[in-house]
Amino acid sequence: MSRSAPSFTCTACGAVHRKWAGKCDACGAWNSIVEEAPLSSGPKSLGAKGRSIPLTDLATEEQPPPRAASGMEELDRVLGGGLVPASAILVGGDPGIGKSTLLLQATASFARKGLKCLYISGEEAAAQVRMRAQRLGLSDAPVALGAETALRDILTTLDSERPHLAVIDSIQTMWLDTVEAAPGSVSQVRAAAHELVTFAKRRGVAVILVGHVTKEGQIAGPRVVEHMVDTVLYFEGERGHQFRILRAVKNRFGPADEIGVFEMTGDGLAQVTNPSALFLSDRGQATPGSAVFAGIEGTRPVLTEIQALVAPSNLGTPRRTVVGLDSGRLSTILAVLEARCGIPFAGLDVFLNVAGGMRVSEPAADLAVAAALLSAREDVALPPTWCFSARFPSRGPCVRWVRRKTG
Ligand code: TYD
Ligand code: MG
Repeated sequence: MSRSAPSFTCTACGAVHRKWAGKCDACGAWNSIVEEAPLSSGPKSLGAKGRSIPLTDLATEEQPPPRAASGMEELDRVLGGGLVPASAILVGGDPGIGKSTLLLQATASFARKGLKCLYISGEEAAAQVRMRAQRLGLSDAPVALGAETALRDILTTLDSERPHLAVIDSIQTMWLDTVEAAPGSVSQVRAAAHELVTFAKRRGVAVILVGHVTKEGQIAGPRVVEHMVDTVLYFEGERGHQFRILRAVKNRFGPADEIGVFEMTGDGLAQVTNPSALFLSDRGQATPGSAVFAGIEGTRPVLTEIQALVAPSNLGTPRRTVVGLDSGRLSTILAVLEARCGIPFAGLDVFLNVAGGMRVSEPAADLAVAAALLSAREDVALPPTWCFSARFPSRGPCVRWVRRKTG
């Protein structure tokens, strides 16, 4: 059979193209298309008949899957109540955000609860991981540690060890000798993830894959890794803040959009069980430009502080700087304040920030943003015991209150 022609795959969305192009037609990303090695044999024609597969009905006597709790409440909640056996989980995040630290701590917690755990590092030598474990006070946890990147050897080890949980740090460093491409390439990441997920299902081993995220916020390599696994968690946080948020963006065994909050300390990640206290910066005295937003993150109500600064601008087009919120939302809220409430922001620089490195995407935060903007513009502090949660009404109570205060 003739060798098939090389194909070109977009690293951002996984779309396959017949020839190279600077821009991917499917997702619009630039410079994301790479050549993939051709398959050694083309697809065979469906000449022979397959066998009939067994079919069942939907009724079941089976109980929901038993879950193993790690005892790290913030992690267990994001997983939907604990680790499900034979599940595949992807943990994505920026390099250096703390994925390896989190997973080493999680593996040690699961191991202390009696689960047989394997931690395979493809990025650090075993001695480095042992030193980190020592610093984190985890040396006594019964975790089996390996440093390897050859997936064939890792799968053989997993098959003979049969652990309850295997952590692979990271999927980008794994390589399969059957795929003619460099480690970290689209084909390698896809093939390695496929092998590990298939292994997890077949052998009943829970597998956690670590994946680095590109600048654009996507897991490097094809998006297909996200489709293959049962659960996708993102570990995120601002560089300057010590707070980290573990967010479930997909979960076949629990609610998505659940968050767990951690703080990076000198002794590793500490759980933050009352995130409201953390996201509200010093609330001792009322400050103009600060408004508290009461929102829901997953199953928990969380209070977040929105901080605004409004200052005269000497630029033709005044600055609009936003951290932790969508900048489009700020423009909309400013336009509503101008058009519906007659409060102009022309000639004023506007800076908006969500305290604690939190990201707010709920539309219910609009009112708190408007209150913070008005409070900053008029230089009037809102009462520190007030909090806001609603879609922004054109002439809401906060607008009337600030107006009354300022005449
Ligand atoms: P790491 O888990 O190696 O990140 P990733 O695996 O996501 O690339 O975390 C590295 C960062 O965490 C590094 O900047 C140092 C910091 N850190 C602490 O602040 N305290 C600690 O106890 C540890 C282990 C790391
Ligand atoms: Mg790491």
